[in-house]
This record gives sequence, structure tokens and C-alpha cells, in this order.
Amino acid sequence: MKIIGTGSVHPKCSVSNEMLEKFLETTDEWITERTGIKERCVISSEKLEDLATEAANKALENAGLTAKDIDFIICSNVVNEYVTPALSCIIQGKLGATCPTVDINAACAGFIFALDMAEDKLQCKKAKNILIVCAEEPSRMVSWKNRSTCVLFGDGAGAAVVTEGDEMKAIRLTTSSLTDVLYYQRALEPTPYIDKEENYEPLVMRGREVFKHAVTSSCRDIRTLLNQTNLKPEDIKYYVLHQANRRIIDSIRNFLGVDEACVPHNVERYGNISSAALPALLDELNREGKLQKGDKLVFSAFGAGFTTGACIIEWAK
Ligand code: UT7
Repeated sequence: MKIIGTGSVHPKCSVSNEMLEKFLETTDEWITERTGIKERCVISSEKLEDLATEAANKALENAGLTAKDIDFIICSNVVNEYVTPALSCIIQGKLGATCPTVDINAACAGFIFALDMAEDKLQCKKAKNILIVCAEEPSRMVSWKNRSTCVLFGDGAGAAVVTEGDEMKAIRLTTSSLTDVLYYQRALEPTPYIDKEENYEPLVMRGREVFKHAVTSSCRDIRTLLNQTNLKPEDIKYYVLHQANRRIIDSIRNFLGVDEACVPHNVERYGNISSAALPALLDELNREGKLQKGDKLVFSAFGAGFTTGACIIEWAK
């Protein structure tokens, strides 16, 4: 597998920490110190499927392909306005593609899970060009009265086009059922027969536990892959890490002992945009001309589940 195109889109409404101070008992100082986030883009008048389609079109253009060249679409998404049909079905129609599609939900690690599925399909020769779109609106899962969660998230979409190649060097996925540290339950329609107790509330997160799991699992995944590929930490051009919190990113970097310049971040501008974070940051690096053919990149992400995913790829463009 190799990545041949990237794209990303963020909603137009940028919400600064100062704007949050107006209706939450919080301060720019607290948010900046604990998370590194200064602003986040949240959906206002846009629809997530339109952001996703725009990001996908940018990735296709970057890859020099059209929607007709795509053999399969994988969409990583946690929530959107539709429960069914899958978001990937809506995106397929808007793009004018005709291939089969599927949605996956591996929370914030969704991009790596999608890369793994794509790699399998390519190896089985079931597809030649695959579009991965990660589209997320976590701003609709949190209570905007809860300062512990709403300040952390933003919305957005990131996409990548992958095709046959030998540039995926190693990949690792993990799931450990740890469902009470981070979850969001949606209310379903009532029926005349439901007699169980159901409690619905906005996103619940035990932040400190998530923080700890995030740092230990990401370091473990990255070390495992470096060992597997006989690479040293300094052989990696960029560590493209999940953008949840600047302190998590810095802790992982310190544990690995790598230079600050090797760990790019944009969490300060976008907050945590779940699975869209990785492809959006990759797209930024790509468009800023920071990636050269042959560069080795580490991707690593973690999310509700608890899911983790990491891989080492070689940049092919
Ligand atoms: O994709 C995975 C998604 N999740 C994450 O990555 C989150 C991982 N966790 C974290 O990033 C951190 O745990 C947080 C940023 C969520 C919180 O930072 P913390 O240093 O772990 O703070 P805390 O939760 O222990 O809270 C410390 C204090 C509390 O007050 P008391 O009980 O000490 O009086 C909170 O009520 O900070 C308070 N607090 C706030 N104060 C001002 C919580 N949120 C805010 C806020 N503004 N926005």
C-alpha cells in the first residue's frame, strides 16, 4: 500500500478559548496549560457529509484521480446526523463514485484501522485505488455546559487515497474493552415493550485515565513497530500522532526521546477532531511540502474502546 493523495477541510466557525470564557467557567490559561488548545473549528451551518466530500475531492485531486477510479471507499466516523444509511453511502453519491463503501467506527484510531483494511483489500487484489475519508463531529456528542469535555473537541474531515505499493512497513492495531472511561450513548426510539432502565447523557470521559492509557499505549505501539522494522527513533522523519492534547503529544515525545521538530502538531488550532486528526495533519505536512519521497513516517492514535493503532509508512510521492 502507498498513500498517493491527501485532503482536509475544517468548518468555518472557529471558536477561541476567549469565546468559551463567555459562557463557561473556564479560562484561556487553564485550557492552554492543560491541553495546548487555543481554538477549534465547529460545525455551524455545514453538513458533515459536505465537509467529508470536499476533503475527499481534494485528496482525489492530489492523487491525480477522479471518483470513477476509486474501487472502494472506507469512511471512519463516530457520529453524524444519520444512523443509516452509512456516511460513506452519502459521500459516494456526492462524489459521483460507483464503488462499494463501508463505514467503520474505531473512534479516534479510525484512520489506522481504515489503512489496515485498505492494505488487506489491496493485497487480495480486490481493489486498486481506495479512498479513506475520516469525518467527525464530536462537538455534537459533548454537553456545551460541561467545561471538562466541550473545550477539547472540534469537527472536521481528512481524507487519503491509497493504492498498490510496498510503502506500508508495519502496522499494529489493538482493542481492549475499557468502555467506562470514554463513552457516549444515543437515545433510541421508545417501544411499547422496553422496560429496562436507560440513561442517556452527553459524552462521558474520565480524562486522567484516558490520558494515562493514551501515553502508555502509543509509546508501546510505536516501540513495537520500531523493533519490528529494525528502525531507530531517529530514522523517522515525522511522528504523526493523534491530536487530542498537547501534553499527551509532549509526553509521548519525551518517552520516545525524539526531537520536538519530528513531532508536528495542530491541536492548538483544531482541538481533537477524532479520527480526522491524523489525515488532516498529514495533509498539512503534504501541502506545506514537508514530505519527501522515502521519508519514514509513524502514525499513532488511540480512542474510545479502548482502541489503538499505529503504523510506519514510507512517503511515496
Ligand atoms: O481521543 C481521546 C480523547 N480524550 C483525551 O485525550 C483526554 C485525555 N485527558 C486529558 O487531556 C486531561 O485529563 C484533561 C485535559 C481532560 C483534563 O486535565 P487534567 O489535568 O487531567 O485535569 P482534571 O480533569 O484532573 O481536572 C482538574 C481541575 C478540576 O477541578 P477540581 O476538581 O480540582 O476543583 C476540574 O473541574 O480542573 C477543572 N477543570 C477545568 N477548569 C477550568 C476541568 N475542565 C476545566 C476547564 N476550565 N475547561
